[in-house]
Amino acid sequence: MIDLMGAYAWSLPLAKYGDRWKTSRRLLHEFLNVRATSTYDDQQHYYSRDLILRIAESPDKLWDHLKLTTGAIVMSLAYGIEVKSHKDPFLTSASRALEVMEEVAVPGAFLVDTFPILRHVPSWFPGAKFQHTAQAARKDFELAVNGPLEYVKECLKNGSARNASIASTCLDRMDDMSKRGFSEEDIRMSTSSLYIAAVDATLAISQVFFMLMALHPEFQKKAQKEIDQLLGRDRLPTLADQDDLPYIWAIVKEIYRWHVPLPINIPKLLREDDDYKGYHLPKGTVFMENVWALFRDPVAYPEPHRFNPERFLKDGKLDSSVRDPDDRVFGSGRRICPGKPFANRAIFLRIATILATFDIEPGVNEKGEVESKVRFEEGIVRHPVPFNCLVKPRSEAALRLVRDSHHAAGSPWGGQTSVAQ
Ligand code: HEM
Repeated sequence: MIDLMGAYAWSLPLAKYGDRWKTSRRLLHEFLNVRATSTYDDQQHYYSRDLILRIAESPDKLWDHLKLTTGAIVMSLAYGIEVKSHKDPFLTSASRALEVMEEVAVPGAFLVDTFPILRHVPSWFPGAKFQHTAQAARKDFELAVNGPLEYVKECLKNGSARNASIASTCLDRMDDMSKRGFSEEDIRMSTSSLYIAAVDATLAISQVFFMLMALHPEFQKKAQKEIDQLLGRDRLPTLADQDDLPYIWAIVKEIYRWHVPLPINIPKLLREDDDYKGYHLPKGTVFMENVWALFRDPVAYPEPHRFNPERFLKDGKLDSSVRDPDDRVFGSGRRICPGKPFANRAIFLRIATILATFDIEPGVNEKGEVESKVRFEEGIVRHPVPFNCLVKPRSEAALRLVRDSHHAAGSPWGGQTSVAQ
């Protein structure tokens, strides 16, 4: 189905191993490696404060705010576009493409995946609804892939692209990029892959964070104490505080472990026959890595079903003898997530800023009972079913601090905003 939709041609996570994939990875690595990711810290700080202000204004729309700011930071990284609302046309088309992808990526969702011969059935044939779905998806993808890149080109031409992003930096240095073997198609593939690859997992982690904090006030309080001890109440956490907030990192790691967002990773296809520990594995075998089971290993993680960030701490510091879920939650080997350093910074900052500003409690469901049920949606990326929680400012002063620092820092875009705001 993914092939019929033409998605292999532009989506890195789905791309077959080969030259196109290698070049796009090389390109993304230049922008997303550990050192390069700090270039985007202003945007990370901006969106962590932006999220707080949105939640403070309408806490009942928490999940919408998480989705918007998670998408916005990726659009900013990829294209330097400042997204301000769900109506942003580029965000809407990227989000539509992601929805379609989620529908078709579920193994067995379409018969044509099991019987590839069906791909030759014409669209007018009774029962060939999948052909229409594939055609409609192709249009959604074209819009998501080409729209923002053409917009960045236009901005570069008229001198209004002022924010460093992967697309604008590459297009601006096109001569140099060509000399180093990158084409405009490589830039298109690398940047258009980011929304689909980055948003879902980052969003799932953020949603689960709220759910777990509501259910475990004891850990929430200890994390807030760590933040208050380091910062007092007169400044917000920043990315420069990472080494001084081990309890926050322990929460991040335990969320990765307890709720791995891609529990079977992205399935892989064996390109050649192979042998492993006495098993013969024929070419064409599909592999799914059971990351979920690795993270429920009772030897590495005693009482594995229990959410307990403190398993990663010893004497108030991160305990390096405990197996770090960070080594697996982003995949491994050649296809390891290239966004790992960026994602870790984004998640750390988001969690630290939220805990510095809000108290999170379970809400009350339709029956008047305190929410305690943890349920998850089906899919390659695992999201929790919306969890009803109350998010209250820790104090008026805490909110004022966010407003003041947001105002003082200003917008890192210097003007470039997507068209239909
Ligand atoms: C907590 C957040 C994230 C998690 C848990 C996560 C996890 C993953 C996983 C498990 C894979 C598949 C790895 C494999 O096939 O072995 C992957 C692929 C990928 N991720 Fe992430 N990711 C996250 C955020 C991001 C971000 C923020 C970006 C970009 C800024 C990103 C970009 C990508 C790309 C481009 C791929 C495809 C790599 C390829 O196929 O070569 N991810 N990610």
